[in-house]
Amino acid sequence: MTRLVLTRPDDFHLHLRDGAMLTGIAPETARDFARAIIMPNLVPPVVTGAQAAAYRERIAAALPGADFTPLMTLYLTEDTDPADVVAAHRAGIVTAVKLYPAGATTNSASGVRDFDRVRPVFEAMAEAGVPLCVHGEVTTPEVDIFDREAVFIDTVLDPIRRTHPGLRVIMEHVTTADAVDYVKSADAGLGATITTHHLIINRNSILVGGMKPHYYCLPVAKREIHRVALLEAAISGDARFFLGTDSAPHSDDKKECDCCAAGCFTATNTMPVLAEVFERAGALDRLDAFCGHFGADFYGLARNPGTLVLERRDTPTAFPAKIETGAGPVTVFNPGFPVHWRVVA
Ligand code: NCD
Ligand code: ZN
Repeated sequence: MTRLVLTRPDDFHLHLRDGAMLTGIAPETARDFARAIIMPNLVPPVVTGAQAAAYRERIAAALPGADFTPLMTLYLTEDTDPADVVAAHRAGIVTAVKLYPAGATTNSASGVRDFDRVRPVFEAMAEAGVPLCVHGEVTTPEVDIFDREAVFIDTVLDPIRRTHPGLRVIMEHVTTADAVDYVKSADAGLGATITTHHLIINRNSILVGGMKPHYYCLPVAKREIHRVALLEAAISGDARFFLGTDSAPHSDDKKECDCCAAGCFTATNTMPVLAEVFERAGALDRLDAFCGHFGADFYGLARNPGTLVLERRDTPTAFPAKIETGAGPVTVFNPGFPVHWRVVA
């Protein structure tokens, strides 16, 4: 039996939803994580500081007594008021702003179509030090879904970063070697989150031997060479890469149907699964920094004072297959290999 004492981790990309789903799944994250960057893609989206403050209250109400801090984000639209963003950031309500290209993913219809229209917001954010979280995929119908991240870097992200060199940017849930290389090539002000599931699955996992809806998420998992590039980045000790699970619950009826919603739900078992992944890669000593140091440092937050203790046993850990919520059951991510780690304190 081996013991691992980690800094209490943070999740720099999380979907907590609202209503009965929020109530059902929020404890799955708050159990292990001290803080999380909360995605604003509700219906309707969280677009103003006042809406973020109200959503933060609903999250707190879903987690009575929990030692958990939600770090709120605003959903960027072409109508976003730069002054509202800056005021909400100064007031400590909002940590970052999220850019969804319109139509890129779940609940992104209100996202940005014309990037020139949000320039004043980017200018104000750069000036006030508000980071931008980016869903990095183009939505151009002609572009193949497996190429959408790489094309986004060249045609959208790099031009934005050149126009606004002072803007701090987090490329969310990177899925390609192209994105890893781009982040490494930047001199400053660019970080990236990596999810638990993209360190484990490739596109074969989704499609070979029958279609696996619970492995379908956006950006979609790519070829094995890309998964390996992500793993190398995660275990490299390069502080620009840190954990953002993108745990994105959908009830089973939305996943197991003829138009499956995008999202993998990893909140329940992320830390034990990551311990197994890092151990298999011979990099257990790098797990703490990836989950507990680099993201906080990038966002300019103090690292968490508390700890999370994991233990390794010879018998694999049993995780629930589903979390029952008032909005229906949610299937927990199955890594497809035995996990010997468990959280004990
Ligand atoms: C997310 C969701 O369900 O809200 N889905 C996903 O596949 N990751 C949206 C997102 O982050 O793209
Ligand atoms: Zn997401």
